[in-house]
Amino acid sequence: MKNGKFGFGIIGCGGIAGAHIRAIEANPEAELVAVCDIIEDKGRKFGMDHGGVTNFYKNYLDLVKDPAVDIVCICTPSGLHGDGVIAAAKAGKAILCEKPLDISRDRMSEMIDAVDKAKVKMGCVFQLRTYANTIKVRKAIATGILGKMTLADAYLKDYRSRAYYASADWRGTWALDGGGCLMNQGVHGVDQLLWMTGADVDRVFARADHLVRDIEVEDTCVANLQFTNGAFGTIVATTSCNPGETRRWEMHGDNGSICLTGQNITRWATAPIGSDEMAKNIEFTKEASEDGITHDPMALSMEGHTFLVNDLIQALKEDREPYVNGHSARKAVDLILSIYESARTGKDVKVPHY
Ligand SMILES: NC(=O)c1ccc[n+]([C@@H]2O[C@H](COP(=O)([O-])OP(=O)(O)OC[C@H]3O[C@@H](n4cnc5c(N)ncnc54)[C@H](O)[C@@H]3O)[C@@H](O)[C@H]2O)c1
Repeated sequence: MKNGKFGFGIIGCGGIAGAHIRAIEANPEAELVAVCDIIEDKGRKFGMDHGGVTNFYKNYLDLVKDPAVDIVCICTPSGLHGDGVIAAAKAGKAILCEKPLDISRDRMSEMIDAVDKAKVKMGCVFQLRTYANTIKVRKAIATGILGKMTLADAYLKDYRSRAYYASADWRGTWALDGGGCLMNQGVHGVDQLLWMTGADVDRVFARADHLVRDIEVEDTCVANLQFTNGAFGTIVATTSCNPGETRRWEMHGDNGSICLTGQNITRWATAPIGSDEMAKNIEFTKEASEDGITHDPMALSMEGHTFLVNDLIQALKEDREPYVNGHSARKAVDLILSIYESARTGKDVKVPHY
């Protein structure tokens, strides 16, 4: 720390690094001190454009050793997250890792072990968890307000153009994207479904394919879920739905229903039908929304990243776990990997829990 500020180093100066830098610049206790990218011109320009930062590294192993760096932001392609996280943990640095945590179970286990062993803090980016209505729904469901949960669904219908998939070599590849509409875009919605319900999935049956785009991975997927609490659910995800629909989550029990459209609560009915409380309970609220990202990946609200950068700094100061830790962030990826296995084998698959 220098002058009371945490020094941030960013590995990967592409699209999402823009959200990290805006969150860092908005925080009086944070400062960008170093950048890394395999494309030297891009990395150097990013540093210069943001406070004239000249500590540039082409190799992430050098950035993590920079004594000015206290916190490392991992903004590289998804299948490289583990490399940066493990190196940063071994160097004793705190970490803010983009979603998905990584793209394989073994790698995620290695990352979490490295973080635990080094006793460093790792916050993970699932910004939808930071919005007021998501938190409100999670808290309400945790009280048992739905009664016995019967159904929990996520409808994640985005649009990504050919130009989007052509915009970087790693997009739409198994090796570095780790999947398509579900592992990249849909992982947010899968995480939000699991987090709001507080429920784990026991088994899945799924179909997935690339119906439109010429990519290795799926652009469309449907999965049928059975939760460990006995409820059923559905995940529908695509990046080939033109023009894209606002994402929707629908959660039901024998005592009530709660639905979100974007970040707006569009159904809150949690009392017996016809009762006075029923009328009082129905709320329709307007909240911060990421509706734009259904068709434009850059139409990202900055609020979530600002929250998570601030939270990691507070976690370091208070010596507590970050808001989204590695153990919790891996759940959505573990479920997605089981969905892929089912789509590949045509079999019902049991989801492992770590
Ligand atoms: N939280 C969100 O809503 C959100 C949104 C977009 C992307 N993401 C995640 O952020 C990550 C990056 O996505 P993006 O859209 O910014 O990709 P991008 O291709 O725009 O940027 C990635 C950058 O990493 C650099 N890079 C690649 N390999 C590297 C290495 N070994 N060392 C250093 N730099 C390296 C590339 O040159 C590029 O500049 C992905 O994991 C993605 O899932 C999250």
